[in-house]
Amino acid sequence: MSAIRAQHVYKVFGRRSGEAVKRLKAGKTRDEVKPLGTAAVIDASFEVNKGETFVVMGLSGSGKSTLIRTLNGLLPPTAGTIEVDGDDIAGVSPAELRAIRRQKISMVFQHFALLPHRSVLDNAAYPLEIQGVGKAERRERAAESLKLTGLAGWEDSLPSQLSGGMRQRVGLARALAADTDILLMDEAFSALDPLIRREMQDQLVELQASLGKTIVFITHDLNEAMYLGDRIAVMRDGRIVQIGTAEQILTEPADDYVMQFVADVDRSRVLTAGSLMRRPVVTIHAGAGPAVALRELREAQASAAYVVDRRRVLHGSVYDDEILTAHRQGATTLEGLVHPDSSAVKADASLSELFAPAAEARLPLAVVDDGGKLLGVVPRVALLEAMAPPGALSGDSPASADSPASADSPASADSPASVHSPASDDSAAVPAGSTAPADGARAAVDHHATSEGGAR
Ligand SMILES: Nc1ncnc2c1ncn2[C@@H]1O[C@H](COP(=O)(O)OP(=O)(O)O)[C@@H](O)[C@H]1O
Ligand SMILES: [Mg+2]
Repeated sequence: MSAIRAQHVYKVFGRRSGEAVKRLKAGKTRDEVKPLGTAAVIDASFEVNKGETFVVMGLSGSGKSTLIRTLNGLLPPTAGTIEVDGDDIAGVSPAELRAIRRQKISMVFQHFALLPHRSVLDNAAYPLEIQGVGKAERRERAAESLKLTGLAGWEDSLPSQLSGGMRQRVGLARALAADTDILLMDEAFSALDPLIRREMQDQLVELQASLGKTIVFITHDLNEAMYLGDRIAVMRDGRIVQIGTAEQILTEPADDYVMQFVADVDRSRVLTAGSLMRRPVVTIHAGAGPAVALRELREAQASAAYVVDRRRVLHGSVYDDEILTAHRQGATTLEGLVHPDSSAVKADASLSELFAPAAEARLPLAVVDDGGKLLGVVPRVALLEAMAPPGALSGDSPASADSPASADSPASADSPASVHSPASDDSAAVPAGSTAPADGARAAVDHHATSEGGAR
């Protein structure tokens, strides 16, 4: 059972809201019903799974706050149903609704109104106080949640003695102290400085790994959305225009609006080796002899290849020159010719973790599972392509036509020979920010970055 289930939820502000919904359902647009009221949420349907971080993202005014407020009954929807843990919250009495809110749902806001004359500990314990939890217990639970958010030692301070980031941690600790399964966070980190914000994001991810809450997180920042969200709902003018994983939204944006959003995303934090990997052009069986290995390399026009056993467990890589020498010397097996691979990555490695190993590797990076099985390879050119927004590398983009990277990469991505191309060619495909070895490569990358900017 999902933690939250919203079906065809509408929220219209205005005196004729019911009529507005009727007309929206009949196909009228948000602007057309404007005289009847402001349609803040239009036909929103989604489910949030237990333990999931579900992000709602959209520009200011797109209806995010209104939507999240319907989820805990702060705002009754004009139409549609919302179930929390299977209970339809529109159908319960006000007392039951309060109980659901207390026991199941906590909320963290952007500006969490801390009580200025109360200590950090008492602020964190506040919801428990409201619930009538005894002093000793609520202080213990609040201290525990302050520890979780990195505020141990600050229990007796006043909010005014804390930085903005720390105050937001108190807000988070307060929500955690209530120990509800569901956390609603409305732009909770948006007021923080970028570095602090990043810290809070990391902390939330870490907390979530151990606590397994169901989180609905609202943000207008796509980087934040993609970093935090298991799934993301993109809102535009009151409607959810796409729901998907970060990868899906990045690689298959539903429309131009989403596409424009993702144009600016820091892809290095979102894309993973698993989504970038391809089938290796050639792999050589561990039991093969030099003659067979040479033949396979020749067929694939490759100078090197990975060696796998029958279960596709990666043994390492072999190089044509070494095999040839061994072959001439009468070798009958590849023994002693297989170089162990130390740069193999897991499928969930993020793009940013791939640059350094990719810069050094002679072969496309190997992607392996926990058992060491070869799942695929990530050519450097795939890294570069992934860094650019969709369309920026395609031939019809005028700005990319003269970019060295884009001129080479589309063809080389699919051609067997170029996957194993010499390091000098390949180094131009090392994205900016990584350890590009030569100045020439750096210049090429900078040039590419410029043309990418122009393509937007
Ligand atoms: N209480 C309200 N009364 C009237 N209009 C409102 C109210 N709350 C929000 N709105 C309007 O609903 C739309 C969505 O607002 P909101 O949900 O706050 O968007 P977001 O959180 O995405 O910025 C906006 O046009 C806003 O002006
Ligand atoms: Mg808002």
